[in-house]
Amino acid sequence: MKTLVITGAQGQLGQCFRHVLAGNTKFKVHYSTKLDCDLSQLEATTKHLQALQPDIVINCAAYTQVDAAEANPQQAANVNVLGVENLVQVAEKLGFSIVHFSTDYVFDGKQTTPYDETAPTRALSVYGQTKLNGETALFKATTPHCCIRSSWVFSPFGKNFVKTIRHKLLHQEALQVVNDQYARPTYGIDLAQKVVQLLQNNSLMTHPLYHFANSGETSWFGLAQHIATKLGSEAPITAIPTSSLKNTAPRPKYSVLATERIEKIGNFSQRVWEAALDDCLKLLDETH
Ligand SMILES: NC(=O)c1ccc[n+]([C@@H]2O[C@H](COP(=O)([O-])OP(=O)(O)OC[C@H]3O[C@@H](n4cnc5c(N)ncnc54)[C@H](OP(=O)(O)O)[C@@H]3O)[C@@H](O)[C@H]2O)c1
Repeated sequence: MKTLVITGAQGQLGQCFRHVLAGNTKFKVHYSTKLDCDLSQLEATTKHLQALQPDIVINCAAYTQVDAAEANPQQAANVNVLGVENLVQVAEKLGFSIVHFSTDYVFDGKQTTPYDETAPTRALSVYGQTKLNGETALFKATTPHCCIRSSWVFSPFGKNFVKTIRHKLLHQEALQVVNDQYARPTYGIDLAQKVVQLLQNNSLMTHPLYHFANSGETSWFGLAQHIATKLGSEAPITAIPTSSLKNTAPRPKYSVLATERIEKIGNFSQRVWEAALDDCLKLLDETH
């Protein structure tokens, strides 16, 4: 039986893997938090992983505070770049494979058609640049590895846009939401499920880089409106331009990811984001 280690296990995506892997009998799974395994510390990471002897590490650890990263580039780089370099170094020593995650924020948003895996990158923000540098570090690995870029991840876990908007709408708060950034929302549970399935049939490492998102594109405003409709909320939502927000990191206006590569490898079609969102809201209603 293969041993999986999920790093950053207490984050949003880490918890999606925990949800998906509950009851799984194909893998022995260990969930490592930042406290057990701080990826920016090479020695501690080596010791931790040496004890666990993983076959595959699924790296959900990241510095994800997009706005805060502008003022704290070193902190972001310590996790998103050095953390990946360290993981690669330990992988070379112990021989495990790495599944890593990245973001649509590696693109500048100037394209008007979906970005596939071969599209040129140009990050606009510190966060995006550190994630891009992390990808470069990963691709140097000589053990099997792959990176999956996704966009606008939501789930019942951790902090995310869907949970924030739902909470505000349930408390009748008036909302202002930007309507000039477009992408494909990604249900974290769909992402984790697909990764597990493709690891089980040994096809995930066919390519070093994939894009993954639910199908259909929308704006943050469109996403908020769908949540309001599902909740039957009448709280007002005002559409605003990104330019009216102060002190935020620049974000791509258009970062729609093309996901055909992973769909072909996995022989599936992405489901529409609205259906995934409905599942997420249902799970939230049951648990919150
Ligand atoms: N969220 C999105 O919308 C989105 C979109 C596209 C791509 N992604 C990518 O998807 C991946 C997962 O994101 P997420 O939403 O799950 O992020 P998240 O909720 O912020 O989780 C990241 C986890 O990493 C942990 N961590 C931070 N520094 C660490 C370190 N030095 N060593 C080990 N763990 C550390 C964090 O712990 P603390 O909280 O204690 O710091 C947190 O538990 C990331 O690679 C991210 O770039 C996310």
